[in-house]
Amino acid sequence: MRKITLAIDGYSACGKSSTAKAVAAELGYTYIDSGAMYRAVTLYFQQNHVSLTNKKEVENALNKIDITFQNNKDKGTDTFLNGLNVEGEIRKMYISENVSQISALESVREAMVAQQRKLGKKSGVVMDGRDIGTVVFPDAELKIFMVADIYVRAGRRQKELMEKGQLVDLAEIISNLEKRDKIDSSRAVSPLRKADDAVEVDSSFLTLEEQVDHIVRLALGKILEQKKETITA
Ligand code: CDP
Ligand code: CDP
Repeated sequence: MRKITLAIDGYSACGKSSTAKAVAAELGYTYIDSGAMYRAVTLYFQQNHVSLTNKKEVENALNKIDITFQNNKDKGTDTFLNGLNVEGEIRKMYISENVSQISALESVREAMVAQQRKLGKKSGVVMDGRDIGTVVFPDAELKIFMVADIYVRAGRRQKELMEKGQLVDLAEIISNLEKRDKIDSSRAVSPLRKADDAVEVDSSFLTLEEQVDHIVRLALGKILEQKKETITA
């Protein structure tokens, strides 16, 4: 069966990555977390005290960054920065607090988008992020735009952090989500926005299973459409 490309975009903590991962597993596709790449860049910039206003410094730093992923059967995907597993570190609040400012830099976006296109070259990919349907894969056969109520999103993120041993106040999480949504949606280069041909999914009152099931059905519909087009061509 011909494989398609799925782009899942939306605001922070709407369930994009959990959904994308599960949809990819059901379809036998590859899942790529583009947000993890921006988080890894942020970690490198923080560790190496890269000045965001110094273009040369930013470009030099980008040339020294190598991001790779490793799939662990039941444990999900680990992100590696220059050979080191940084999966735990990049999910911490200090990274969430700085990632949107760094992701707004044009040179950072150019470098990440080029790498994402390379990773998604062969179809059969589910990628989640902010600009996947608009910039990275504008021709993706299925585009999803996820939204959810801010309190629901913050509650889910708090639970997730708690399970990792990090106790964070709900108000701090809400403030971080709102701040990032604002920076991500208003930046000059590839801002977060719903692609004209994206399907909006509100996850506020859905279980993870329901939203995965809904998107898998949409994907199967697209795959069938492709198959029919190939037969009649
Ligand atoms: O998991 P969460 O939704 O909180 O964030 P993420 O997907 O890990 O992305 C972290 C940050 O990376 C976002 O707030 C954006 O600033 C940036 N990002 C981006 O600019 N473009 C993408 N395609 C993915 C993430
Ligand atoms: O990638 P994004 O930041 O959009 O969200 P996520 O990290 O996939 O989801 C945040 C948390 O919400 C995860 O712990 C999910 O399991 C949980 N969740 C969900 O995504 N959808 C639901 N309907 C219920 C819970």
